[in-house]
Amino acid sequence: MTEKRIACIGAGYVGGPTMAVIAMKCPQYKVTVADISEARIAAWQTDDLPIYEPGLLEVVQAGRGRNLFFSTDIPGAIREADIVFVSVNTPTKTFGDGAGKAADLQYWERVAREILRVSTSPKIVVEKSTLPVKTAHIMETILNANNNGVKFEVISNPEFLAEGTAIQDLLDPDRVLIGSRETPSGLKARQEIVDIYANWVPRERILTSNVWSAELSKLAANAFLAQRISSINSISALCERTEANVKEVARAIGMDARIGPRFLNASVGFGGSCFKKDILNLVYICESYGLQEVARYWQAVLDINEYQEKRFVRAMIRGMFNTIVGKRIALFGFAFKADTSDTRESPAIYVARDLLEEQAHVVVTDPKALENARKDLAGYAENLEFVEDPYEAARGAHAVAIMTEWDVYRSLDWERIYRSMEKPAFLFDGRDIVDYKHVYDLGFNVYPLGSPAMKHF
Ligand SMILES: NC(=O)c1ccc[n+]([C@@H]2O[C@H](COP(=O)([O-])OP(=O)(O)OC[C@H]3O[C@@H](n4cnc5c(N)ncnc54)[C@H](O)[C@@H]3O)[C@@H](O)[C@H]2O)c1
Repeated sequence: MTEKRIACIGAGYVGGPTMAVIAMKCPQYKVTVADISEARIAAWQTDDLPIYEPGLLEVVQAGRGRNLFFSTDIPGAIREADIVFVSVNTPTKTFGDGAGKAADLQYWERVAREILRVSTSPKIVVEKSTLPVKTAHIMETILNANNNGVKFEVISNPEFLAEGTAIQDLLDPDRVLIGSRETPSGLKARQEIVDIYANWVPRERILTSNVWSAELSKLAANAFLAQRISSINSISALCERTEANVKEVARAIGMDARIGPRFLNASVGFGGSCFKKDILNLVYICESYGLQEVARYWQAVLDINEYQEKRFVRAMIRGMFNTIVGKRIALFGFAFKADTSDTRESPAIYVARDLLEEQAHVVVTDPKALENARKDLAGYAENLEFVEDPYEAARGAHAVAIMTEWDVYRSLDWERIYRSMEKPAFLFDGRDIVDYKHVYDLGFNVYPLGSPAMKHF
């Protein structure tokens, strides 16, 4: 018997995997994921899923057609559900007041109004998307602006999964956070959501809080994670000038139990759909509460990220004798991190654009993200190629730049690559994954991130 009927509006990187895991772990629930995008819903119904995530297909296959359904019938999914998760996109606003900083809540509000329009029975509405603190208040105001007697409770249940490890993160989360109003009906709704996760998550890892803390915790978590990356990246610039090695520094500081070893890999910068937009949103919220110093503090995390991308390109131009016009440069990786096809805000986009503006000939290769890369660089017709095989991409190139830490790039035959390249051959490692001494001995001029360049001239 179906114990709960769950709908999820938004079948993207969050909605799809989270609901697939709930359906797999809770066969007694019926889970329907609905989206306005017909193409996305159609793809969820095949084995060629709209997103790549290790292990996702198996989880989808376990529930699909049994208790996991994908649909474009949004009103139908809402109407029959007791619980409606909303995981639509909340991008940075591009127009009007708050443009470039505030979250654009139009998609969210549209869903709230749709829920209000079609509902004939009470529902718990769960904020799964990342939203500005205090959004639940707006949602409650919209949802309760009805005179048909239907009651709604708004719960904040932000998603902490990381792309690339989404399934593992969902199956074995560090914590699940569920925030509600602390009224009797709010606490009852909170318990309903706790009961879902309690099917597989140990109770001590299911945290409950007030609704504002839950909303803010997600923004704060992303800001703290990004801050660690910017911190180590800022140190990487200093290492390159001082003959220190950022890996050694990261290891030394990471062994301090108060600091910890994770998120201390220097890189060409963080990407992904969330860090930048969520920090911009945090900055905007702080500014709107008059907290200018706090806003400036978090803005600096973004400034360092941009600085890191820019100085990577600058090092390429300077290293290659101050001109890259017409030079073939192979970008190894385009996804914003390994094990995902997602390229949103990938540093590779900015690096590729800067190189193209410098009139280099850019060749992009990536094991999973070439389709997205083509879309990201759609405005550039000339001097741009997309090649699946990294060896082919590097053939005849003056330089290889590693943009994504894909495992396949850790075990490449660098001798073979070196032989096929123009000389002098350059390797710019934006992810710090190559054995520098080895490739230097092969003949490469190597620019590791976070330690001085190793040149043969
Ligand atoms: N991607 C991540 O790693 C991640 C992690 C945690 C939280 N989040 C947050 O989760 C939210 C969703 O992120 P995502 O990466 O899944 O986005 P996404 O763009 O992949 O998916 C959003 C989906 O919502 C659909 N949609 C938009 N408006 C709709 C409407 N009115 N009705 C029905 N469907 C609609 C879109 O068609 C799209 O398929 C964002 O707020 C994001 O910040 C993302």
